[in-house]
Amino acid sequence: MDSIGVIGAGQMGAGIAQVSAQAGYKVLLSDISIEVAEKGKAGIARQLGRAVEKDKITDADAETTLARIEPVAAVSAMAPATLVIEAASEREEIKRRIFADVGAVLAADAILASNTSSIPITRLAQATPDPARFVGVHFFNPVPVMALVEVIRGLATSDETVRRVDAFAGRLGKTVVHAEDAPGFIVNRILLPMLNEACFALGEGVASVRDIDTAVTLGLNHPMGPLTLADFVGLDTCLAICRVLHDSTGDPKFRPAPLLVKYVDAGWLGRKSGRGFYDYSGAEPVPTR
Ligand code: 3HC
Repeated sequence: MDSIGVIGAGQMGAGIAQVSAQAGYKVLLSDISIEVAEKGKAGIARQLGRAVEKDKITDADAETTLARIEPVAAVSAMAPATLVIEAASEREEIKRRIFADVGAVLAADAILASNTSSIPITRLAQATPDPARFVGVHFFNPVPVMALVEVIRGLATSDETVRRVDAFAGRLGKTVVHAEDAPGFIVNRILLPMLNEACFALGEGVASVRDIDTAVTLGLNHPMGPLTLADFVGLDTCLAICRVLHDSTGDPKFRPAPLLVKYVDAGWLGRKSGRGFYDYSGAEPVPTR
């Protein structure tokens, strides 16, 4: 059985580990410590437990899936993996350090992939042992639910690397789209201007948090309003992607909304910090302005 390495056991990494294990792969899951990696696995166990309660999978399926996931203390344990997916924080220096560490143990034909939401793949490739075997593999949150994977080819990425990650994503049951290594790829280039514009509209007093979300949910038939979705993605992540789009194109249409910057400065990062455009401390989210 092929082994997959997943670096980063947060929301995205845990989701990728879960769907890979459900598809039959053995998964090595790492984070800054074994405790954090184990916490990621415990979160996966809770997700699978919910799926069992809803009769979507059996107890035995959940157990088999969990048994395939091995939390590991360091990226040096990734040597047996045929594909290693980095899903760490969206900070370039952290990703570069990880690539140097994992590069030292990566098998000669193994592929290294990044789940980056916006950092250029061609630039990140410079920190990897072999840019031909480096590729962007961008999942969407929540990973077990969202059907899409964007595959992003850097300048040096080989056809063979793209073919192998396409096959991997296909085995997970995902639909693959291919994007050039351009800022924001496809989805975030289109999504972030919408989320950012919702922040401008709120900051300019066009409408309330609830009315902006209701307008887009019902008027455009989206599953979530843009402010709810921004909280779900994480306001720090939204701001980081806006800044990449703005810095790399110089186009003022991507300038971050002042209100988005202010919320991030306040540490109001959305769901993950318990407060963003909504307060998540009660039974139901309540707008914070
Ligand atoms: N993990 C696993 N499954 C989850 C989940 C999670 N975190 N959250 C919800 N689900 C499942 C539920 O179990 C349920 O499954 P079922 O229908 O088989 O019982 C199903 O999703 C629907 O969930 P709910 O009924 O609880 O709630 P909703 O109907 O409101 O759906 C949602 C929740 C799927 C999150 C939906 O609101 C949605 O699709 N929102 C938009 C999400 C989106 O746009 N994601 C992309 C963000 S951008 C991104 O990730 C890129 C990055 O680079 C920024």
